[in-house]
Amino acid sequence: EMDAFISELISKMTLKEKIGQLDLQSGNRNVTGPFINEAYEQQIRDGHVGAVFNAYGADFTRHLQTIATEETRLGIPLIVGHDIIHGHKTIFPQSLGEVASWDLNVAKMGARVAAREATADGISWTFAPMADLTRDPRWGRVSEGAGEDVYLATKMSVARVQGFQGEDLGEKDTMMATAKHFVGYGLSQAGRDYHTTDVSDYELWTTQMPPFKAMVDAGVATFMTSFNDLNGIPATGSKFLLTDVLRDQWGFEGFVVTDYTAVNELVPHGFARDDKHAAEIAFNAGADMDMVGLSYITYMEELVAEGKVSEEKIDESVRKILEMKWRLGLFEDPFRYSDKARAEREILSEDNLELARDAARRSMVLLKNDSQTLPLNADKINSIALIGPLADNKSDIIGNWAAAGDRKTIPVSVKEGLEARLNDDVTINYATGATHSYIADAETVEMKTKVGMVAYTTADNPQLEKDFKAAIEAAKKSDVIVLAMGEQERMSGEAASRVELGLPGNQVELMKELKKLNKPMVLVLMSGRPNDLRWEDANMDAILHTWFPGTSGGHAIADVLFGDYNPSGKLPMTFPRSVGQVPLYYNMKNTGRPYDAENENQRQEHYKSRYDDSPNTPLYEFGFGLSYTTFHYGDVVLSSNELKMNDDELKVTVKVTNTGDYAGEEVVQLYTRQLVGTTTRPVKELKGFQKIHFEKGESKEVTFTLTAEDLAFYRGDMSWGSEAGDFHVFVGTSSDKVQKAEFKLVD
Ligand code: IFM
Repeated sequence: EMDAFISELISKMTLKEKIGQLDLQSGNRNVTGPFINEAYEQQIRDGHVGAVFNAYGADFTRHLQTIATEETRLGIPLIVGHDIIHGHKTIFPQSLGEVASWDLNVAKMGARVAAREATADGISWTFAPMADLTRDPRWGRVSEGAGEDVYLATKMSVARVQGFQGEDLGEKDTMMATAKHFVGYGLSQAGRDYHTTDVSDYELWTTQMPPFKAMVDAGVATFMTSFNDLNGIPATGSKFLLTDVLRDQWGFEGFVVTDYTAVNELVPHGFARDDKHAAEIAFNAGADMDMVGLSYITYMEELVAEGKVSEEKIDESVRKILEMKWRLGLFEDPFRYSDKARAEREILSEDNLELARDAARRSMVLLKNDSQTLPLNADKINSIALIGPLADNKSDIIGNWAAAGDRKTIPVSVKEGLEARLNDDVTINYATGATHSYIADAETVEMKTKVGMVAYTTADNPQLEKDFKAAIEAAKKSDVIVLAMGEQERMSGEAASRVELGLPGNQVELMKELKKLNKPMVLVLMSGRPNDLRWEDANMDAILHTWFPGTSGGHAIADVLFGDYNPSGKLPMTFPRSVGQVPLYYNMKNTGRPYDAENENQRQEHYKSRYDDSPNTPLYEFGFGLSYTTFHYGDVVLSSNELKMNDDELKVTVKVTNTGDYAGEEVVQLYTRQLVGTTTRPVKELKGFQKIHFEKGESKEVTFTLTAEDLAFYRGDMSWGSEAGDFHVFVGTSSDKVQKAEFKLVD
């Protein structure tokens, strides 16, 4: 039925109308790129637009659909898209935070709630999940992704696709997901956004491709090209990526959209002579839909007339787009997603806010907790100094890419969260204290002013001096100091790269002053990236990483600070000691001259793979995160010391015991190492994890199953498969704190 309907529709379309279906235009509610086309309503009317984004709201989307379906010759409905990354109006923790929960249900539920809210507001397509593997915290977009590890990122990205798309795209509360950015963007050189990537075949297929392939297998509806130049070919113009791999090798049947003006950007990349040439290259490579840049709609007719693009190929792309419109039910009822009554019921409902609160507390990572500073005991404390630019802040707390999220009144700030949790007999002495804006020296001010960015020095701003004093006074009056500090939300996300990883502004300066008061200090850290926390780690009594926790963030933070929820998050990215170690990740190669700092003899040896002025090790390793309780890991017990290549399973069992004073959840992690391979193997590779609840004193046998397929990799001849040999298997509480056993994989 669908095929016949679409074939008939295509047969009635003019070439111009067909090309119109390949055009994606931005409404002006949120600009998410450098260019906007103000005339787009008229273009919809002219039948030149197939989809719009940055447009939402039941009334507004109904208005646009009315133009498309009633004022154009063929009445083809629009797809309405938006960047629904971690929530529509109920904002969940930023994506990297959700991944820190190591709980697939958190990622799936976040996407589910986002889809329920967004679809009621007229949106049927999200530009998420971002599955670019991220190992460089300078890159602002690490906050949007799924961390540094391919196994974890693959599981999380698939869970998100399932959450957005549900079982059936035809349901009114599910939406199309987008696997983005295809591919390599996470390896942008030096962490500078949009920068070149140069990736070996081994690296591309081992770490970058798998999450994308898994999303194809999970039925993701669309793909987005990435901005970067990959090994000399910009991804948006790469036939190898968009056709040979995606269509021919993986069998992807949805449609491919470019990133924002990425077709036009083939010109500055030096890959196309002009926009017309760029349209020819990108379309022939396999990019079906052009986001914002107008190059298809402007040049495609000429390109067909000149024989550079075939009308058959245009028909194929149009068919894929119309098929999605059909599957979304838009031909049946173009207004089905613009549902005011459902929007009122669904958006920011009590249930959604509660789910966001639960996701936020599950995503928090306890990085330090000396002398059981946390949880705070509300019965024993008379006063808390709550200090920091993020303490009474509703704007940053929801993080970047927060779609239609309110930043003024609805989010629960840290201050409000604490006030709601505490009785009147605990006084909160609040002060902003410091700024988390960049404070620049004169030269940087001049540079920033030139490019139109705000920048000021301490001397320029007497308010900073005043805030500092107020914070010290507040701290003097209080039993404990809680610092809500970190980055501005705009320091994460697109075009938000940094060269320094420390906390910006004068926050550290203020912490140093407060430290002199000798009171317990708890840092509640909000940030979208791994930061350089050397000073904080050495000087704080406790550090709780809350990422940007979202609309219910203040409540979730109070839940954790006062022990109503025992933190269980684990780091999805390595936290380096300093920016000089970047990229630093747990599953590195051993090198020919490995350096083991624990080994006395090696410390004297000069010619080893190490730094002269820093340890090799991170400050906090991948998979690390404390709990208010403690877990003891017994020995790793194997069902056999041999695993056969075919039809065999190895059971890996460890007894884990909650030995502390609280019930809590633990993420039990499984890693392997192949000692010798036809390509060098990483020192550890994550192969499994389980998040398990333990009552106080409770023990559980935790079992993982390994097969030869789990140990497969790209071998010396670039074929995929496993190799017989010796393996180590590790089970533990982080990538570094593990118990070990050994086995052989045999033919
Ligand atoms: O979806 C985004 C993409 O991730 C980066 N550029 C803009 C797009 C649309 O807003």
